[in-house]
Amino acid sequence: ITVYVPRDSAALAVGADRVARRIAEEAARRGLDVHLVRNGSRGLFWLEPLVEVSTVGGRVAYGPVTVADVPGLFDAGFLAGGAHALHLGLTEEIPYLKKQERLTFARMGITDPLSLADYQAHEGYAGLRRALAMAPADIVQQVLESGLRGRGGAAFPAGIKWKTVLATPAAQKYIVCNADEGDSGTFSDRMTMEGDPFMLIEGMTIAGIATGATQGYVYVRSEYPHAIAALNAAIARAESAGFLGEDILGSGRRFKLDVRKGAGAYVCGEETALLESLEGKRGIVRAKPPLPAIEGLFGQPTLINNVITLASVPLILARGAAFYRDFGVGRSRGTLPMQLAGNIKHGGLVEKAFGVTLRELLYDYGGGAASGRPIKAVQVGGPLGAYLPESQWDLPLDYEAYAAVGGTVGHGGIVVHDDTADLSRLARYAMEFCAIESCGKCTPCRIGSTRGVEVIDKIRAAQNRPQQVILLRDLCDTMVHGSLCAMGGMTPFPVLSALDHFPEDFGIVAPDREAA
Ligand code: NAI
Ligand code: SF4
Repeated sequence: ITVYVPRDSAALAVGADRVARRIAEEAARRGLDVHLVRNGSRGLFWLEPLVEVSTVGGRVAYGPVTVADVPGLFDAGFLAGGAHALHLGLTEEIPYLKKQERLTFARMGITDPLSLADYQAHEGYAGLRRALAMAPADIVQQVLESGLRGRGGAAFPAGIKWKTVLATPAAQKYIVCNADEGDSGTFSDRMTMEGDPFMLIEGMTIAGIATGATQGYVYVRSEYPHAIAALNAAIARAESAGFLGEDILGSGRRFKLDVRKGAGAYVCGEETALLESLEGKRGIVRAKPPLPAIEGLFGQPTLINNVITLASVPLILARGAAFYRDFGVGRSRGTLPMQLAGNIKHGGLVEKAFGVTLRELLYDYGGGAASGRPIKAVQVGGPLGAYLPESQWDLPLDYEAYAAVGGTVGHGGIVVHDDTADLSRLARYAMEFCAIESCGKCTPCRIGSTRGVEVIDKIRAAQNRPQQVILLRDLCDTMVHGSLCAMGGMTPFPVLSALDHFPEDFGIVAPDREAA
């Protein structure tokens, strides 16, 4: 009998290792033959540790399981899917999971992340096998036609970036995976690396073959030790099975892959600061141009993509561009693994095609605020994303629709606040975060963020409020237009959205109420 206990950090944080050990002990004590698989997480975090048992009818879930629950589960016959207070039924039938459109996360929580056999039994390496039979330009064309855009947040068309690297001649090119997932409330990159690392490895290998790059680096933030371990183990296995190295599957193509650990700077998620860090220097933003696609790592053409962008490629190659492009709306094609976090009852991973609304995510999936209070504001797109008030929760999640209201979809992070939140404090925090994380290269960000904290403090303390609000708007304008990178350039988004949509939190009467 196979029992699954996740090895994902989110499950480990709530005791999955202890639960796994207890299950093994209890099975041994009862003389039962249990095969324990440490799978990835299904992404239903409020149910972790989510223990699954394979039965003839499918996998049955129990959760959240504690060590103390284990003997009772055995007594209830959970190995045969028996009834118990923690019984959740067939995993695939849990509505949160059933209503999703899992393309990139199709294998997540189902397979053993480090089993190549399991990976291949679930469509793994089908994309690479197809790519090996194609000309590099045709692979790039598939990515272009799929409509895939950069999932790190900037949403730049991946195929165009790949094309630029392919078209730039050089003796050495690089593929760099940006796994410095620093956005608050985000975890889709981490889940991918921990729960399905071969998918990222396959995506990077395809990118290497498509652009002529023979060396790849995954730049992982130091806060992700389990992801680093999983990637290193998976790379070693892929190498020894011939999926990486000098002669990939006898094709004569070569691609080598290594993991590099960051040192804890948010700004190293900015691609040029990341390259500096990868070269062993301090993570300071480089001026663009030149684009990394033309002059990147060690001055060579470099394809930098986020984890989810690269992880989406194997499926696109395996099923064809049209399959992927058929999901989504407008110019936002495919799916986005969205991450529900903050004050939300059912936090976790929801992969849906673009076009879903925030309201659906917050209530149909998230179940409302964890506190049971009304939701007040939702920050979408990380710490540099806007705070969206309820009037904007029915917008389709789509890069252009969000941009039209000053919002960002970003990396798909959704952080929820209930009606006890003070948006002026959150706006202050955005400036403070920028002041702490600024690389210091340009004045609007380095100095502006500190001045921003001071101005918001004065507004909060009702010191000359009208003038300070004008000053704050002026400062935000300078930061948006004068900063060298998104750190200083986007910090005004949370600040201004807070000010515009929640003026009462700043002690300002809303304009419509003033008119009344
Ligand atoms: P950007 O718009 O400057 O560039 C996007 C990408 O396209 C870059 O890789 C750039 O080199 C490339 N590019 C642009 N023009 C090109 C061309 N003609 N040919 C080839 N490549 C080209 O945006 P940037 O500064 O890279 O990223 C900003 C975004 O990062 C923000 O929108 C934010 O959402 C996101 N972000 C994500 C975080 C995370 O943890 N995932 C953290 C912080 C910000
Ligand atoms: Fe550095 Fe901030 Fe300027 Fe970006 S905006 S280059 S983080 S100082």
